[in-house]
Amino acid sequence: MIDQLELKQSMIRPWRLDDAESLTRHANNRRVWRALRDKFPHPYTAEDARKFLEATVKIEPITIFCIEVNGAAVGGIGIHLGNDVHRHTAELGYWLGDEFWARGVMTEAVGAFTDFCFDRFSLRRIYAEPFANNPASARVLEKAGFTFEGRLKNNVVKDGEVLDSLLYARTK
Ligand SMILES: CC(C)(COP(=O)(O)OP(=O)(O)OC[C@H]1O[C@@H](n2cnc3c(N)ncnc32)[C@H](O)[C@@H]1OP(=O)(O)O)[C@@H](O)C(=O)NCCC(=O)NCCS
Repeated sequence: MIDQLELKQSMIRPWRLDDAESLTRHANNRRVWRALRDKFPHPYTAEDARKFLEATVKIEPITIFCIEVNGAAVGGIGIHLGNDVHRHTAELGYWLGDEFWARGVMTEAVGAFTDFCFDRFSLRRIYAEPFANNPASARVLEKAGFTFEGRLKNNVVKDGEVLDSLLYARTK
């Protein structure tokens, strides 16, 4: 069975190789890149999209998904499963093309996807660490039922700036 979640405003579904063009278009955005790890490329080229999709479609079980709005791949959401003593823990990450911001798309996606991950995987904790200069992401997590656990001082360096991170988690 192919995992997919039909939501009011979007669909969360596995990535496909033919998402490359739409992925490139929406991911190639400094406003998106600024909130993510540096392994998310900028500029984001068609070659970056091709490599990402070729690697991602092979991963089993599927943990990294596409967010589709109006039939187009416009964002991503996924978890990174922990191992060893963290094997019941996963880190959540997500992004959305900026044409679709501020409509509640990600609040709905994060809430439903977290429920899905607790059902699907043997997890007791799902956490996210937005940079402290990203209040929209912190707000999404709060609205999706995550609890603020603390501020990680000087935790990241992004775009030439040392920043705090905010630790949010949902537990089961
Ligand atoms: C963060 C992001 C995922 C939000 O997605 P979205 O679909 O626009 O989020 P929603 O519309 O569901 O909710 C956004 C909330 O943040 C609030 N918000 C937006 N900008 C804000 C700001 N500067 N300060 C405080 N709150 C802000 C909105 O008002 C809204 O809250 P409300 O419903 O209480 O009014 C999107 O902006 C994004 O992809 N950013 C770049 C990548 C990223 O940040 N990924 C997460 C890394 S941890």
